[in-house]
Amino acid sequence: MIKIVSISSYLSKTGINVFDSGDENLNTYLKKYAGQNELRGFGRTFLLVDQFLIIGFYTLSTTDVDWLSLPNEEKKKLPKYPVPCLRIARFAVDRKYQGKGYGKIMMRDIFIKTLSVASVAGVYALIVEPKEKAISYYTQFGFVKLANVGSYALPVATLKKLIGEK
Ligand SMILES: CC(C)(COP(=O)(O)OP(=O)(O)OC[C@H]1O[C@@H](n2cnc3c(N)ncnc32)[C@H](O)[C@@H]1OP(=O)(O)O)[C@@H](O)C(=O)NCCC(=O)NCCS
Repeated sequence: MIKIVSISSYLSKTGINVFDSGDENLNTYLKKYAGQNELRGFGRTFLLVDQFLIIGFYTLSTTDVDWLSLPNEEKKKLPKYPVPCLRIARFAVDRKYQGKGYGKIMMRDIFIKTLSVASVAGVYALIVEPKEKAISYYTQFGFVKLANVGSYALPVATLKKLIGEK
């Protein structure tokens, strides 16, 4: 049965070493840096696993975005301060499992976690800086481009509607 677990409770080094998303930077991040960042509290990494097999992983951290980069409609509603956000810092599915809906499962989990964080701390939007080839992957979920930066944002207010929260 598949489940999503924190990297801090995952014990197979082999599982991490054989993970291959087809993107060397993402593979290296999982192998070398995800564990360190977990210990430092810089990034929280979660694995979609089937037993010890890693199907995919994602990392979340906090960030803020410049008020100026927001769409005009949003700017009108907000003060001219940096806007607190949650960031999808890394997101990848193993090549063998791509195109089978596992990314969607992880994204839904991120949405739920984002709403949970937003219920106890200020979070205006979920942010991602997608690789060129993955931009349309994120826009299908409703992420919209921010001005003058490579980031895409999905406001928490939109997320609530997607997940069916009032
Ligand atoms: C991009 C990635 C995370 C998608 O995960 P996945 O499990 O293959 O995607 P899913 O099977 O959940 O796809 C969900 C939907 O997105 C579409 N999709 C998949 N990859 C896509 C892409 N790169 N661009 C646009 N749409 C894509 C699928 O066709 C599917 O559409 P449907 O619901 O209409 O059938 C995965 O392919 C991957 O890890 N790629 C290499 C690393 C990478 O680019 N990571 C993103 C870094 S920003």
